[in-house]
Amino acid sequence: MNYRHSFHAGNFADLVKHALVLWLVETLQARGPLTVLDTHAGAGLYDLSGDAARSKEAEAGVARLMSAEGRTPLMDALAARVAALNPDGGVRYYPGSPLLIADALAPGGRYLGFELNPPVRELLTQALSDRPNAEGREGDGYAMATAEAARARGPLVLIDPPFEKPDDYIRSAETALAVVRRDPAATVAVWTPLKDLETFDAFTRRLAGKAPVLVAEARLRPLTNPMKMNGCAMVVVNPPPGAEAAAAEICGWVADSLGDPGGRAEVWML
Ligand SMILES: C[S@@+](CC[C@H](N)C(=O)[O-])C[C@H]1O[C@@H](n2cnc3c(N)ncnc32)[C@H](O)[C@@H]1O
Repeated sequence: MNYRHSFHAGNFADLVKHALVLWLVETLQARGPLTVLDTHAGAGLYDLSGDAARSKEAEAGVARLMSAEGRTPLMDALAARVAALNPDGGVRYYPGSPLLIADALAPGGRYLGFELNPPVRELLTQALSDRPNAEGREGDGYAMATAEAARARGPLVLIDPPFEKPDDYIRSAETALAVVRRDPAATVAVWTPLKDLETFDAFTRRLAGKAPVLVAEARLRPLTNPMKMNGCAMVVVNPPPGAEAAAAEICGWVADSLGDPGGRAEVWML
């Protein structure tokens, strides 16, 4: 396990994922208390003065979000969460999905995140220590979230792997399908990088025809160099009404504001 999200926290891909997850939480909990299961939770909270300052990814991502004028409402909602973590101004702290979700949940809602790496799981527990509605557990998130989803009603499941193992695409698709087969009221959101289209197409083909699937891509540059993360996508199985417009707003803002001139957003139903 070499992957360290602390280098990537607050980058453009986190902004796409977190803005859409915030919208999903707000929308799904309108029908009642929501359980959110996070297969790959990470540390929960990131100090951007460390690894992220070296990678400069947050500088090109959340720093630009916070200083941007004319943010759209859903990007504004994410910016408000970041501002709440930085009461003295600036952008030193950035929330991971655990903190972001725990703080967005209405009373009765519950967050359960899984993390395989023990030191990262300790950071996660620390980050959530004063959030009684939230818990971090150590272990394999694909298996543990699938088991936990079977005990919840209409949960939201976030699948956000590092994609450092060759089977992460297959396990993400299988987990998503297992969850919605068992509970058609569940919604599953999978984050993926966009490098070349062949890998991504193979992933979406695994889901096609098995459930309603929204694909939301933020392409920051043309996908001509497969060695680079040229963009990212959120693939939402069983998206709630309004998801297409929400994703278009988020991916559109990120591609237009943070991408190269050749960047663009693509949002469609499979
Ligand atoms: C991309 S990061 C998660 C970021 C987090 N979801 C967020 O948005 O703030 C991926 C995390 O998954 C962890 N991980 C890798 N394989 C895992 C597995 N099979 N189950 C649970 N966690 C895993 C890594 O240690 C890493 O912390």
